[in-house]
Amino acid sequence: MYLGVDYYPEHWNKDMMDSDIDRMLIMGVNTVRIGEFAWHIMEPKEGYFQFDFFDEVIAKLKTKKIKVIFGTPTATPPAWLVKKHPEVLLKDENLNRVSFGGRREYCFNSDIYRRYTKKIVTELVAHYKDEDNIVAWQVDNELGHESSDLCYCEECHKSFRSFLQNKYKSIEEVNKAWGTVFWNHTYNEFDEIPLPVKTITVHNPALQLDFQRFRSKSLKGYSDFQVGLIKEIVGDNQLVTTNLPGGFFEKSFDFEALQEKCDIAAYDNYPVWGGLKEPVPPHAIAFSHDFIRGLKDKNYWILEELMGAQGHTIIGYLPRPNQAKMWAYQAVAHGCEGLLFFRWRGATFGAEEFCYGILDQDNIEGRKYYEVQSFFEDIKKYDEILKSEIKAEVALVYDYDNAWAWRIQPQSTTFNYLNEAQRLYKPFYSLNTTIDVISEKHNFDKYKVLLLPVMMVTDEEIKIRLEEFVKRGGTIILSFRASIKDRNNNLYLGQTVPCGLSELAGIEIHEVESLQEDQLVPVQGRGNFEGKSTYGTVWRDIIDCKTAEALYVYSDKFYKNKACITVNNYGKGKVYYIGSGVGDDVLYDISKEIIGEKKIDFIETAEGIEIYTRTIKDTKCTFLINHTEEDQIALGNKLEPYQVKILS
Ligand code: GLA
Ligand code: ZN
Repeated sequence: MYLGVDYYPEHWNKDMMDSDIDRMLIMGVNTVRIGEFAWHIMEPKEGYFQFDFFDEVIAKLKTKKIKVIFGTPTATPPAWLVKKHPEVLLKDENLNRVSFGGRREYCFNSDIYRRYTKKIVTELVAHYKDEDNIVAWQVDNELGHESSDLCYCEECHKSFRSFLQNKYKSIEEVNKAWGTVFWNHTYNEFDEIPLPVKTITVHNPALQLDFQRFRSKSLKGYSDFQVGLIKEIVGDNQLVTTNLPGGFFEKSFDFEALQEKCDIAAYDNYPVWGGLKEPVPPHAIAFSHDFIRGLKDKNYWILEELMGAQGHTIIGYLPRPNQAKMWAYQAVAHGCEGLLFFRWRGATFGAEEFCYGILDQDNIEGRKYYEVQSFFEDIKKYDEILKSEIKAEVALVYDYDNAWAWRIQPQSTTFNYLNEAQRLYKPFYSLNTTIDVISEKHNFDKYKVLLLPVMMVTDEEIKIRLEEFVKRGGTIILSFRASIKDRNNNLYLGQTVPCGLSELAGIEIHEVESLQEDQLVPVQGRGNFEGKSTYGTVWRDIIDCKTAEALYVYSDKFYKNKACITVNNYGKGKVYYIGSGVGDDVLYDISKEIIGEKKIDFIETAEGIEIYTRTIKDTKCTFLINHTEEDQIALGNKLEPYQVKILS
């Protein structure tokens, strides 16, 4: 297991290096990441390459048997490059070119930037291709993060139009697919097509969805370009990855597509960042791990694991004693096989003076240092079992076309795709079942239950796959706005909602309502849930049951007894439909009913206690994770605040 820290030797006097490395060794480090923002050190002037600084760093690390993950430095273009070619800088949606001075300011479609990328990456990787102390290359840094996934420059406009030309073959096809007759947008030529930049009212939703697909292709194109350069030089001798940021569905790129050419998925895990008063909840952190593991259907690395409070201009919540260590345990439980803490020592200058590291400005080993040391010492004992494959019987299924379509038209001011995905995920998490988070592209055969949050955009293929899954005994949970739109982001015409799934779900939806902040719609239980009640939020589908049974109904004046939550027997399986953003308790009960029926392993625990079991052949280890600031009991074991125990 690679265990270590993100290290920036170029930020410190060279005479600190030996002591740094010695103290890393004592802390239990066996791997460090270096280099991802150090372009000028490697190419101080155009075409003049020098690697002696990093040669020395790697040599010192090698003598202490500390491996290296080397980041290509393209996230921060040097000033000399931008001065010569300001056109590499991206343009925001107001068509303003961003200024040099931050990071990731470049355009993914800039041929000029690719030329300079090719030179630095080729020189760097060729220089170290036989260095066996380098185990992997990290492409760039958090590609597409901090709004760098979007660019509206001339280069991108030209590329967008050729993207469309490749997709649609004729301008007539574009007009048909986008419905451009609406508001007189009919195009005669591809070069009439705009970027979705500032206009009066809003752009065509189909154009906007294609633009998101184009952005995703642009970012993947740049990353694949670098992966190709590296692979051409190192072959399989050194691995290639790129460290993904959070924000998954808020980004204009498909994370699964981006990671496709990488050898292993890698992620930066920050349960709290910037001015947040408290971390994201435990189920949301777990979701992110399951999402990253789902990208390549295998275990992954974390190349930046939070240890100290983080922020650029505003910082926030201070992780309590052992809390950041607990998050590291949660990560390895969910399939993280290599983990580096961010960062060895917090910078004392530059934009990240308040991104606290393991060591702070006093440069003295303190609480954080000893927490990391004890984590490394402990987790090394489970090296083998943590390489085991995680097998889930429940899968949450997402789709980027759908996520982007919702971001283009959220329809309710309270809608958020990730929240709705986690609404279905949370009850199964709370029951401590193992869950995969996968895209629609994956095979569903190994699952018993599929969770399909707000699957607004569908196509014939997914509808057929879901019908087959249910027919042969699977259970699916759909939530509101299911299957109203096609892949062009246009509404289906002449089909009963949920279009193509009406018979499968045994329901028809003829009335719908968007719910804004503080709008709560009363909902009452029926049958097994008689006497229970909850509220609908965000949205409501007002459901007519055909073959389905109503489990919960609305109880407000005009829609009294119209169904909100239904279940339908179909073939050998079942289809649940959650017609509104209902509360955790209701979904917990329904999830528990499903898990019982499907004979899926689960454990009921107090709120804030997570239990995760890993098995390999006939040995298993069980993580008991206390996410709370109170003493807790889990499976008869006392857990102190933020304590983790591993039973094996
Ligand atoms: C991100 C980046 C790092 C650093 C940290 C600070 O994850 O990858 O370069 O900016 O955030 O929290
Ligand atoms: Zn651009």
